[in-house]
Amino acid sequence: MASRVIPVDAFDLVIFGGTGDLARRKILPGLFRRFCAGQMPEDAQIIGAARSDLDTAGYRTMIKDAIEEFGGADLAQNPSMPGFLERLSYVAVDARGDSGWPELASLIRMEKVNAFYFSVGPGLFGDLAERLKRYKMADDSSRIVVEKPFGRDLATAKALNNTLAQHFDETQIYRIDHYLGKETVQNLMAVRFGNMLFEPLWNNQYIDHIQITVAETVGVGGRGGYYDKSGAMRDMVQNHLMQLLCLIAMEPPAKFDPDAVRDEKLKVIRALDPVEPHHVVRGQYGDTPDQPDYRTHAENPSSKTESFVAMKVGISNWRWAGTPVYLRTGKRLRARSSEITVVFKDAPHSIFGAEKGTHRNELHIRLQPNEGMTLDVTIKEPGPGGMRLVNVPLDMTFAEAIGPDVEDVPDAYERLIMDVIRGNQTLFMRGDEVEAAWAWTDPIIEGWEARGDVPKPYDSGSDGPTDAIAMLARDGRSWREISA
Ligand SMILES: NC(=O)c1ccc[n+]([C@@H]2O[C@H](COP(=O)([O-])OP(=O)(O)OC[C@H]3O[C@@H](n4cnc5c(N)ncnc54)[C@H](OP(=O)(O)O)[C@@H]3O)[C@@H](O)[C@H]2O)c1
Repeated sequence: MASRVIPVDAFDLVIFGGTGDLARRKILPGLFRRFCAGQMPEDAQIIGAARSDLDTAGYRTMIKDAIEEFGGADLAQNPSMPGFLERLSYVAVDARGDSGWPELASLIRMEKVNAFYFSVGPGLFGDLAERLKRYKMADDSSRIVVEKPFGRDLATAKALNNTLAQHFDETQIYRIDHYLGKETVQNLMAVRFGNMLFEPLWNNQYIDHIQITVAETVGVGGRGGYYDKSGAMRDMVQNHLMQLLCLIAMEPPAKFDPDAVRDEKLKVIRALDPVEPHHVVRGQYGDTPDQPDYRTHAENPSSKTESFVAMKVGISNWRWAGTPVYLRTGKRLRARSSEITVVFKDAPHSIFGAEKGTHRNELHIRLQPNEGMTLDVTIKEPGPGGMRLVNVPLDMTFAEAIGPDVEDVPDAYERLIMDVIRGNQTLFMRGDEVEAAWAWTDPIIEGWEARGDVPKPYDSGSDGPTDAIAMLARDGRSWREISA
């Protein structure tokens, strides 16, 4: 397949927090990959900014080391490395002080696209936004990129939105949820809205239920302090799982444009039913011979924070009433796997006498690992032996479809940063979406706090608490196995 990389316009990208973990682990290796792919124009400029006392030469060495550490051996060996490092510079600034800001402002070319990535804690967003305007580094065409967590409840999210709105218009604000940058997530929209095949069946008449699982094998070790104030609900459900749910459940937008898509996603969030306490299971992982349990990782022996949550969600609209969506996410589970499964109903009558529930069509949309989709269809088992039915997967895995060019598929951060430069907000969360998601999540968390709810323990390396399995069993359903 011929490469279709289209270079973006020349740009200045300032990464506040340019020395931090996210910048070194994801943002800069991602930018280097886009540079190697030929997507970055000759005069693109990337400026790291943080308080550390570094010069440009020191910053280039830091980023070269980061690419070697986080980008993989092949990337680090790429002969384009010196050319990429020349695009980088560094200015020491304190988001809360004034030194360095005039120097940073002097580097920005206002006639080019300029974007400012706030890869810092949300407590600094207001200071950065105010100084960008005060030092005349940003105008009405500038873009700012902000990271999760976007608030920890509705009140704090509103406050953050208000702070940013004092300096920037909504059309300039790019709230990143990297799940939206995944190839499969966009493919989900292509499959739903680019084919006649699925959309007529995409409703409560034909779909029994939907499962969305985001399972991790890692624990919270290293960031236990931060995580213990957050938990799976705030860290994963309110943003990543909610976004996946929106894309699965939304009505077809009139066109593939940022506000048309985001309007439809917002309607889904607003149609979500309040969640009953018995439709949520929270869990905390236990220890293994070589790994401590959650509470030890969190350094909080009486922690009531969940490292796992599973829930049954209802959507009150014509398309989905009566068809539940089950969400599940957790740490230290059996395998690392993010997957959406759409389980279709049984055929109304089996002329083959098949037992109910044994030959259902299932669409599996896999986000990681091995991004791709499979559709389970029922066929006759080949060969003699009469009419025996078997389910086989129709494989739409990208690696199969596009062969070696799969290496060129940009990862989520790469794609999203290039979308910022292009000025395309389709894959970014709008302020009202984030607030609506918190408005739905807040009462669930407040209910736990009011009841003093304690998460159920679960074995590391398992599928989570047995109560989560029982929750589906009560509905006559079962979770899809978590597998890599
Ligand atoms: N790491 C991830 O994988 C990840 C994933 C999703 C979201 N996030 C979010 O992304 C943001 C950054 O995360 P991170 O992991 O990169 O954090 P980090 O490793 O702690 O880095 C924070 C960065 O901010 C800079 N900084 C701190 N105070 C500053 C100030 N007053 N003025 C200017 N720069 C300042 C730090 O550099 P100096 O100390 O040199 O100033 C550093 O470069 C956080 O909001 C985090 O929640 C991170």
